[in-house]
Amino acid sequence: MEKKSFYITTPIYYPSAKLHIGHAYCTTIADAIARYKRLSGFDVFFLTGSDEHGQKIQQKAEEAGITPIEYVDKIVAGFQDLWKRLNISNDDFIRTTENRHYRVVQEVFRRIYAKGDIYKGEYKGLYCTPCESFWLERQLVDGKCPDCGRPVKEVSEEAYFFKISKYADRLLKYIEDNPDFIQPISRRNEMINFIKQGLEDLCISRTSFDWGIPVPIDPKHVIYVWFDALTNYLTPIGFLDDPAKFKKYWPADLHLVGKEIVRFHTIIWPIILMALDLPLPKKVYGHGWLIVDGDKMSKSKGNVVDPIGLIEEFGADAIRYFLLREINLGQDGNFSRDALITRINSDLANDLGNLLHRTLNMIGKFNDGVLGNPGPLQLVDKALIDVAKDTVIKYKQLMDNMQLSDAIKLVWTFIGRSNKYVDETMPWALAKDSAKKDELNRVLYDLAESLRIVSILIIPFMPDTAQKIWKELNLPGAIKSSSIDDTKWGGLPISLKVNKPVQLFPRIEVEETQPEAENIQLAKKKTTKDVNVMNADNIGIIGIEDFSKMDLRVVEITAAKSVPKTEKLLEIMVDMAGEKRTIVSGIAKFYTPEELIGKHVILVANLKPAKLRGVVSHGMLLAASKGNELKIVEVDMPVGSRVK
Ligand code: ME8
Ligand code: MG
Repeated sequence: MEKKSFYITTPIYYPSAKLHIGHAYCTTIADAIARYKRLSGFDVFFLTGSDEHGQKIQQKAEEAGITPIEYVDKIVAGFQDLWKRLNISNDDFIRTTENRHYRVVQEVFRRIYAKGDIYKGEYKGLYCTPCESFWLERQLVDGKCPDCGRPVKEVSEEAYFFKISKYADRLLKYIEDNPDFIQPISRRNEMINFIKQGLEDLCISRTSFDWGIPVPIDPKHVIYVWFDALTNYLTPIGFLDDPAKFKKYWPADLHLVGKEIVRFHTIIWPIILMALDLPLPKKVYGHGWLIVDGDKMSKSKGNVVDPIGLIEEFGADAIRYFLLREINLGQDGNFSRDALITRINSDLANDLGNLLHRTLNMIGKFNDGVLGNPGPLQLVDKALIDVAKDTVIKYKQLMDNMQLSDAIKLVWTFIGRSNKYVDETMPWALAKDSAKKDELNRVLYDLAESLRIVSILIIPFMPDTAQKIWKELNLPGAIKSSSIDDTKWGGLPISLKVNKPVQLFPRIEVEETQPEAENIQLAKKKTTKDVNVMNADNIGIIGIEDFSKMDLRVVEITAAKSVPKTEKLLEIMVDMAGEKRTIVSGIAKFYTPEELIGKHVILVANLKPAKLRGVVSHGMLLAASKGNELKIVEVDMPVGSRVK
């Protein structure tokens, strides 16, 4: 029987700059879904790529003093390197500058033109270059681009137009008839409202720059970059040259995109497809945005997080795990280094790492590393097996529903249950009594079997870790060729010889920093290893962009006490507009705890936490010091105010 196909795509990202953790987030989700579908027996085609044309790229290249192709070649090589390091299993990588794509775009234009849906006219309107987006006056918010908030500029050029308006009713009906087409539901409602306000014909060519694919019938025009970019989804699956392949994979099952580009994918793209008489994609899913320590990432704020640095420091699987576990797909989510470290230490090192380590350790110690014949099932074993079976059933439902974070939580509940089973059965006690050999073998078998099942269930999220566990258990072959059906209880062979225990995820120690003598500046940045922020040059003179990396906030001191066995340190509680924080500060020689209470002072709120004499300090208070004098900086402003 031929396998069912599953075609999944990410946006093709602009190579105007290096990719950041937000792009890695989207691609990791797509990868997890692609891997899950393969595990479930689908013939998967997973596409990602780069969107290389347009005015923004041309401008960037000009600023850099090189040609656009030189500019994008270098950055796109960086994309591909990132996906390799993050273990992304894409089946193809489409570059819009490739000849295979050029041919598709021109052919799409030709067909729609021949149909009479493209006409020549004059474009007078507004354009947002960073978003490569046309706008009408009435759509602006405070005179700025409604998507990104940046200024728009007027353009007035001869242009080709695509008769979008002609298809508006048909599109609306399609969206209304197909509740699954736009997900999540909030995005669907937004799009329905947008269409109901009326669609204008779309300008699909530009003449004021030339970095793009020429209009086939009028080469002084280049095709609008979104018209070019959206058709990428047709190129690698044989639209022009492989009808069998095309039939197999089109329509796409899932276009995964960020919420800001749902509009392009659910209005312009379906209308292009209608004009081509092609079926529409089954689903467009608009995922939420990743913010960093509570703030939108931006170059000017200097808080853009580079995934490569994180992968080098913590490994790809830890980053993948964090992104997939921490954030619910449809919603915005927060990235923070602290939260990442907490997850690594608790979920990966403690829960999963520990289960593997203690299991292998006990099999080694009590049984010379060999799984013996398990004894009959007792109630305690049956309870564990029931949870295992239930986990697999629910896991499939959640994964089919794209609830990746919930699926991970479920697997970790099972891991927790397995750890509890160790405490319940106390194998070390069974090992002391030779009459209980069968019982011991049963417990060890059940634990190894739980780990085998866990290893399959985590393939989509942490493919390397899954393979490592597989290898530790000494299971035959590569885990890659497993199927979801292999999660059935009892698949573990008896008399398997397992390997010596390893540490899957070493615990990350939060550094202890020693207080400096006179200075209040307790928690200094240590090495460049800590800096995962892009463009962090450490030179004497700083620019405003460096300064603005600091989140300075007015906070109120609500409590203070001295840190035992220290002379200088106070442990101070502050209130930051509803959020409570503990700060350790070296000011005990200058202030008594009582006199601090109620003061409004300035906190460096985004300083990396540091442990001082066993207490974790979440920030630093500003103080002025000279000689033997020191005063903390007080300010008569409400709690939560920003200092800038
Ligand atoms: O829009 N959080 O490319 P792009 C989560 N070339 N996801 C984020 C993110 C963040 N902070 N920042 C970016 C384009 N993304 C077009 C697409 S498709 C035919 C053309 C992700 O480089 C998210 O998926 O601006 C978003 O939609 C995509 O990157 C935009 O990437
Ligand atoms: Mg963008």
